[in-house]
Amino acid sequence: MSSLLEKEIKRRRTFGIISHPDAGKTTLTEKLLLFGGAIQMAGAVKSRKTDNHAVSDWMAIEKERGISVTTSVMQFNYRDFEVNLLDTPGHKDFSEDTYRVLTAVDSALMVIDSAKGVEAQTEKLMEVCRMRNTPVITFINKLDREGREPLDILSEIEEKLQIECTPLTWPIGMGKGFKGVYNIMRQELNLFTPSKDRRPQDSIMVKDLDDPLLEQMLGSYADRLREDLELLAGAASPFDHKEYLKASQTPVFFGSAVNNFGVKELLDAFVELAPPPGPRATTTRMVSPDEEAFSGFTFKIQANMNPAHRDRIAFFRICSGKFTKGMKVMHHRLGKEVALANATIFMAQDRTNVEEAWPGDIIGIHNHGTIKIGDTFSDKEPLKFTGIPNFAPEHFRRVLIKNPLKIKQLNKGLVQLAEEGAVQLFRPTMGSDYILGAVGVLQFEVTMARLKAEYGVDAVYEPVSYATARWIDCEDRKKLDAFKSKNLAHLALDAEGHLAYLAESEWRLGRVQELFPEIVFRKTREHS
Ligand code: G4P
Repeated sequence: MSSLLEKEIKRRRTFGIISHPDAGKTTLTEKLLLFGGAIQMAGAVKSRKTDNHAVSDWMAIEKERGISVTTSVMQFNYRDFEVNLLDTPGHKDFSEDTYRVLTAVDSALMVIDSAKGVEAQTEKLMEVCRMRNTPVITFINKLDREGREPLDILSEIEEKLQIECTPLTWPIGMGKGFKGVYNIMRQELNLFTPSKDRRPQDSIMVKDLDDPLLEQMLGSYADRLREDLELLAGAASPFDHKEYLKASQTPVFFGSAVNNFGVKELLDAFVELAPPPGPRATTTRMVSPDEEAFSGFTFKIQANMNPAHRDRIAFFRICSGKFTKGMKVMHHRLGKEVALANATIFMAQDRTNVEEAWPGDIIGIHNHGTIKIGDTFSDKEPLKFTGIPNFAPEHFRRVLIKNPLKIKQLNKGLVQLAEEGAVQLFRPTMGSDYILGAVGVLQFEVTMARLKAEYGVDAVYEPVSYATARWIDCEDRKKLDAFKSKNLAHLALDAEGHLAYLAESEWRLGRVQELFPEIVFRKTREHS
């Protein structure tokens, strides 16, 4: 192993931010980027919600609803670390996208609103982190507002998210009485003064909690802090790095993102505690990041990131070896060698051509329809990274077009949007219509808007009576044929040619499963 490769891996941190909408994910992202020097000005990331030409390709629909539809990737440098931050859509209707993004990270940062505690989307996202044993650091936000008692929130996290909390900072007061946080690890007091643009705040070392300095700084809050810390020492387990890496413990930080308070402590702890890129599973073996041979996989495809370019970018996570500009790699699904000529690294407000990149980095590859989600590229060895799922849709629509002459554009648009994972496409074995499937109904709206904007197709939807779908598999050819001939009206092929069974209800699905016990009905399907 080259020592340079080893050094670059050690200083990489690739993580996703997860939260329920409105908890402060965008605000926190912006502050992290400020510390990393990736942006100069507060407000730059916030503008995502209103400015059409900024970092990612949110669309009119996102603007209207004030939700983050797409996922953006940003790289920044902090201390000696290269940090890859993957933002995820907070809205539940885009959770499929979020799940796939979480396959490309090594750890996650969870943001919780101190007044609201654990919310529905936090629970769903944490479920994915748990499934994948992704280590999670927690930031409890908005301490400048009246919120719930910190101990209350911690016990809710432990109960609902099944992860042990170990606070590494502790808040002093809240709302109007918010005085600051005590950094338990460093034994430092950080006093709060509201301000949006301030960079690191001064810290006061308080080694001895009985120091009268505490009274001078905090007045009557000093005693409360002592009591809280005593209580915590008895109630919470001490922080254990191994437990965090195993995803059974989450270190907790408190602060106020909008005031840039508690964020530096969070970032410092993050780069020190969060894991560098680790080994990844393929269908044949584990691939270690320090292998010289290059490998990685595509977890997301995004169209028209820049309306001026009208391009499609495949987001690719490097899993091993070094990437160099122009290198040739095997595209195993196609069995072809391809040159990665102009890959891109995404900075906060810019994208730059990448000359070299390392395990953990996310690069953008220009895609002319030959790259799909889940595709593996590697040096020579045929590898296939696993764990990038398609989820069984829960909502369905039939697509009709107003102008039949546009059928070609419709086909092209639907196939491309399905490849991006924006929506799932099914072609029933009987009939010529397309059925779209989605995990969240907003995906339909986005698809419709994009068909019009990007492919010039005016389409309308018609409701269909399906409520669920399963991918079908059976080792016994004869039994599969028998199943097919009895269920033709419910069968469809997805965009990648996999057979699926569409059912009107869970009850009906259960019934068919009983009748055909030898058929495997899958709720998720790995990208092939
Ligand atoms: P999201 O990406 O998780 O959806 O949340 P976002 O950062 O957009 O924050 C949601 C709202 O919460 C924003 O207010 C934001 O200013 C506010 N916020 C974020 N961090 C804090 C904090 O530490 N304290 C307080 N009091 N508020 C915070 P908004 O009114 O929706 O938007 P804006 O008008 O402030 O831009």
